[in-house]
Amino acid sequence: MATRTFKLLHVVGTRPNFMKVAPIMAAARCWNEAPAPERAVSDVTFRQVLVHTGQHYDQRMSEVFFDELGLPQPDHYLGVGSGSHAEQTARVMLAIEPTLVAESPDLLLVVGDVNSTLAAALVARKLGIAIAHVEAGLRSQDRDMPEETNRLLTDQLSDMLFTTCRDADKNLLREGIPSRRIHFVGNPMIDSLEAHRRKIDASTIVRELGLIPGGYAVVTLHRPSNVDEPEGLRRLARTLRRLADRIPLVFPLHARTRARLAEFGLIEGLEREASLRLIEPLGYLDFVALMQEARLVLTDSGGIQEETTVLGVPCLTLRHNTERPVTISEGTNRLVDPDDAAAIQGAVATVLSTPALRDLHRPEGWDGRASERIVGDIARWLAGGCAGSPEDKSRQGA
Ligand code: UD1
Repeated sequence: MATRTFKLLHVVGTRPNFMKVAPIMAAARCWNEAPAPERAVSDVTFRQVLVHTGQHYDQRMSEVFFDELGLPQPDHYLGVGSGSHAEQTARVMLAIEPTLVAESPDLLLVVGDVNSTLAAALVARKLGIAIAHVEAGLRSQDRDMPEETNRLLTDQLSDMLFTTCRDADKNLLREGIPSRRIHFVGNPMIDSLEAHRRKIDASTIVRELGLIPGGYAVVTLHRPSNVDEPEGLRRLARTLRRLADRIPLVFPLHARTRARLAEFGLIEGLEREASLRLIEPLGYLDFVALMQEARLVLTDSGGIQEETTVLGVPCLTLRHNTERPVTISEGTNRLVDPDDAAAIQGAVATVLSTPALRDLHRPEGWDGRASERIVGDIARWLAGGCAGSPEDKSRQGA
């Protein structure tokens, strides 16, 4: 039987995209290299194209991840940079349209919930290009969060919706997405963690920072709701300074957070605290190594809630809601009101007075093999087994 080669076009734009796309591209390469009889769909292979929108552009927010995660150099770099939501989304749309027209992929793959994700999906839909959304169906139910809009709309635009947890399936069904489009596959971000375990374990970052394993906490903050308002950020900074009396803190600063702390005159106060270390953003391997040895993590990130769950490290999420409730019901995560200093102090005290628990229970499908399942489902779908796929449409003369 002749081999059919389908073109997959992957879009990355920001830091949290890289660790989701890398294992999917690797799984598709493995698929190509496997002997045909061993493939679930023996006559299908892939050609892959990578587009980087350039939403994140600093070396420490972007390039380092390509090196560490084995992502190929992008075939197209759109260089959209920073801006308001409208500017950023519009720039990605304008820049990606000719790229999609020229490449004419059989499937666009987008991940997560950032502006680049929605912008690429919107353009592809109107060009009649099929779309797969990885990490579909997550909902915080908080419409003030820009990512919630990106999630809702990207899911409505997509043909294949890959979910990381069963509650995401339910969210999608509730929003009227037909069940045949929903593919529960597990969590590809955990694939990256598993694929790089050895290198993570070999990281010397904890020693380099002079920290004692199990004797420090990691802090990350970057949500606009936590860092963009002077009063809120001042309160959080004060709380961190108090916490540093109880346990040493390491705080790798996201570009947005560093800019806001500087703007509101809060950097110096934090730098004066002997047991609070402000550091530059870390690469993937060092950051996971730092989390792995931490006594606890305080964060407002989405992905970190998932990684701490798999690492068995307590996570206090400084938000009112989470789109990842499975990290609470089955993992190590707990929500804490970011505006309530006493609640944060209390939650930290509770963690510190509870014996360190490395409970390695994992949510279903967070097993390091989600990308394989994604690639297998894509092959079956593109081969025409599923309604709505390009092969199916051409059969029906659509
Ligand atoms: C974006 C995503 C967010 C994700 C986060 C991960 C959206 C709506 N938000 O937020 O979901 O959790 O990425 O980091 O897509 N900047 C730099 N260098 C960079 C990137 C940004 O200096 O490489 C600065 C710019 O001043 C920019 C600010 O950081 O204005 C924010 O960057 P932006 O991409 O707009 O949003 P993030 O806060 O990073």
